[in-house]
Amino acid sequence: MNANIKKYNLLYEKERKKINAILHGTVKNRKPSSLYIPAAYIINSEGKRIRPFLVLLSAGAVGGNFSQAYNAAVAVELLHDFTLVHDDIMDNAEKRRGKLTLHKKYNKNTAILVGDSLLSVAYEYLLKDCNGYSKSIISSFTSGLIEVCEGQILDTDYEARKYVSLSEYLLMIKKKTASMVKMCCEIGATLGGGTEKEIKGIANYGLNIGIAFQVQDDLLDIIADENKFGKRIGSDLIEGKKTYLFIKALEKARGEDRKLLSKVVDNKGIGINQVKKYKELYERLGVIADARKTINYYTKKALNSLNVIKKISDKEILVWLADELLKRIR
Ligand code: IPE
Ligand code: IPE
Ligand code: MG
Ligand code: MG
Ligand code: MG
Repeated sequence: MNANIKKYNLLYEKERKKINAILHGTVKNRKPSSLYIPAAYIINSEGKRIRPFLVLLSAGAVGGNFSQAYNAAVAVELLHDFTLVHDDIMDNAEKRRGKLTLHKKYNKNTAILVGDSLLSVAYEYLLKDCNGYSKSIISSFTSGLIEVCEGQILDTDYEARKYVSLSEYLLMIKKKTASMVKMCCEIGATLGGGTEKEIKGIANYGLNIGIAFQVQDDLLDIIADENKFGKRIGSDLIEGKKTYLFIKALEKARGEDRKLLSKVVDNKGIGINQVKKYKELYERLGVIADARKTINYYTKKALNSLNVIKKISDKEILVWLADELLKRIR
């Protein structure tokens, strides 16, 4: 495995560049520029491109070629960018990928329409790669999209609630984040010609790394370095989100600590200058460590799902990716 780490890193870099180049072409030369220049602003920003990379790796893992899946890979990234642009409006976010969010740089109406057009262009690209699998590919993609919308409204609904259980939280993040990661794996493995069993196994890997990914996103919202993370630290507390850390903290806190947490709900969020105080509370209550445990738990579950894939070299890169995601700082 160790000897391959460098190889995998290089492959990721190489594929990221290829994906970036295709992404760049998706809205280039389209008119009106009042729509597509803002679209290019988000498309060409510094995303990690994890989802398109997963499409390619999943195709490869079942013995297929990356070349069968580049358009689909670009389609899932466009879908992801659509969710980010609309998410940032809903979350009142100011920073994304180290830059001003699209609705802050331009305006809300433009951001809504950029989101809509990215989704439409995503379908345009997806259709290019569907080949003989169009029904299952379009159906996976559409289910992923429906789930994101359901997850995003649950996230919004939870803001207004006094109490959200851990299982309600898990349902919400499965929908808003993990189902789209699952979808990437499902589409990749289908295009790569995987068997039903292989597709299911890889999809389950995606679902579980997706859950781990969102818990880690909640964690990074508190502990990351803002310049590296590219988003504002503490934004979930500022918006009064029921994150993994918040729910765990409320479960553990007593007395004054509990009152402090209730304030986040009662006041629908906190001021930016109070973030530090809550970070200290999270540390004191041990919920940062709890989040790490949960991230590890779902990553292990993801790795167990890979047992269906026979070829060891192809499985290893998915194992490597899961491990890389554990170490991510943005
Ligand atoms: C951010 O996704 C949205 C979540 C589901 C947490 P990423 O962390 O993959 O964002 P980019 O694409 O790399 O910017
Ligand atoms: C994001 O959840 C989920 C989607 C974009 C669908 P968050 O709201 O936590 O994502 P970030 O932190 O803004 O990237
Ligand atoms: Mg957000
Ligand atoms: Mg959100
Ligand atoms: Mg977040």
